[in-house]
Formats: sequence, C-alpha cells, structure tokens
Amino acid sequence: MKVVHTIEELRDQLRGQLRVAFVPTMGNLHPAHLALMKMARQHGDPVVASIFVNPLQFGPDEDFSEYPRTLEDDIRKLEQERDVYVLFAPNEKEMYPEPQNFQIQPPGGLGGILEGAVRPGFFTGVSTVVMKLFSCVQPRVAVFGKKDYQQLMVIRNMCRQFQLPVDILAHETVRDADGLALSSRNRYLSAHERAEATQLYAALSAAREQVLDGKLDTDTLSAWGHQLLSDRGWQVDYFSLRRQRDLLAPEPHEIEQGEPLVILAAARLGDTRLIDNLEI
Ligand code: PAJ
Repeated sequence: MKVVHTIEELRDQLRGQLRVAFVPTMGNLHPAHLALMKMARQHGDPVVASIFVNPLQFGPDEDFSEYPRTLEDDIRKLEQERDVYVLFAPNEKEMYPEPQNFQIQPPGGLGGILEGAVRPGFFTGVSTVVMKLFSCVQPRVAVFGKKDYQQLMVIRNMCRQFQLPVDILAHETVRDADGLALSSRNRYLSAHERAEATQLYAALSAAREQVLDGKLDTDTLSAWGHQLLSDRGWQVDYFSLRRQRDLLAPEPHEIEQGEPLVILAAARLGDTRLIDNLEI
C-alpha cells in the first residue's frame, strides 16, 4: 500500500485510473471501515482510502481535539487486509491551505433535520470535505456506511444535484455480536456504559416490531423511545420514524401501504454520543 500525504502525490499515483473505488474515513479504523474497503474492491480498481479528521464537521463543543488519531495502527490494519492500494492521509494544511469560504450547504429539509438539527453545520462540513476529497481522488464509485444513514443520503443527493460521475454505494451497518453498531466513539465508553450501549439497538428493534405490528402513530413511537432510553439514563436527541426516500415523517396511510421506512436515533450515554438506525 502506498501512503501519500499530499494531493500532488495522490494524483501521481492515480494518473490515468478511471475505475477508482474510494472509501473516505476519519481513521481509527475498525472492522466496519475494513468491510467498506472490501466492498470497494468488488466495485472498482484500484481502491483508495482516506484518513482525515475534518475540522469543518465538528461543532465548537464537539470532540475534534479528542477524536482518536491512530494513523500507524490504521496503516498496519490496511496493510494486513490488502484491499487498499493508496491511502491518502493529508494534514489540515493540505486540505485547507486557506479558509474554506466556498462550502456546500445541503438543503435544510435534508441537512437541517435530525443530526443536522442537533449539530448545526455538520452536514455542510461533511459535504464540503467529501466534495473536496472527490475532487482529489476522482473516484468512479465511493462506499459509505448505512450507520450514518442521513450522511449517506446527503452525499447521494449532492452527487445527483451536481451531476458528479460518482456512484455512491451503501454498506450495511456492521455490529458487534450484541447489536451495538461499531464506531470509533465506542472507545469512549466505560465498561458499564458499553454494556448499556446495546440498549440503543434493542430499542430500535423493539420499535420496528411495533411498526410491523401496525402501531402507526409516529409521535407515540418517538415518545416511547425517548421514555425508554431516558428512564435508563440516556439523553435522547431524537428517536424518529421516517421515510427512507427523503427522511420525512410518513403519513399513517403510507405506513399501512408499505412505504419503506427507517427509524433513526441519537442519544448520549454519559459524554458519549451514539447514533444508530434500523430500516423497516
Ligand atoms: P467515519 O466516521 O470514519 O466513517 C467512515 C465511513 O465508515 C462512513 O461511510 C461511515 O458510515 C462508515 N461506518 C462507520 N461505522 C460503521 C458501521 N458500524 N457500519 C457500517 N459503516 C460504518 O463518516 C465519516 O467518517 C466522515 O463523516 C467522512 C464521510 C469521512 C467525512 O469526513
């Protein structure tokens, strides 16, 4: 695997490559990231991964400075898996040599709801860095995880509206055996919190059963999820049943008629914020 830190070196490595498959990450790689790279390998060649902790997508009170940076370990894992041909690991100066005044702002109806309502500017930061990374890597396909369901949707919409020649592929959420979605932030959890963390997926699964049983009132479902988790000591940001296609709330008749749905949740356990979702 070639590790490059500058855009110029990256372009040198990729000159003439028309089938690049790309997996952007913020590093601290875990098996879910590696699974995305495996998927990329099935859809293009060569596979390029990036590791960049993007300051633009962190709010002032968020964990930008604490975010785990483990480049050497990450390189070791990638070398072991042998799926990635080039790793692009730029520093902040390389990605943002000057203040980033041009930014990509997703429409409020998509970027301002759920995660975007709790984390203002988050999807602008994500869209902007992904657009920049796409312009550096010029991939044919890029792989994103369904764990960050709204992010996947924002990127898909951005590519469609800007008519970027990049196919966005979705990888299923990768979970630990007990259901907890893998995340770099899981390492912040104490042993007690780690045991409790499975309850987020458990709550989503129970909510899904209720919808399948014909309980069609989205507000009641949301209140139920909030109550269940807050009784267990979580601080819930949202617990919400939405349509897969646009993340808006479904009408009861749509639920009845089998509209594809997704329940999305975000909640904090102590200082750690976890998000997850489940499709119906
Ligand atoms: P990061 O959190 O490192 O995630 C990189 C990719 O891995 C994303 O597409 C994310 O959805 C996927 N991923 C993480 N955990 C997953 C899991 N348990 N199952 C499936 N996929 C999972 O997401 C980002 O970085 C950044 O916002 C980024 C897109 C790189 C822009 O900075």
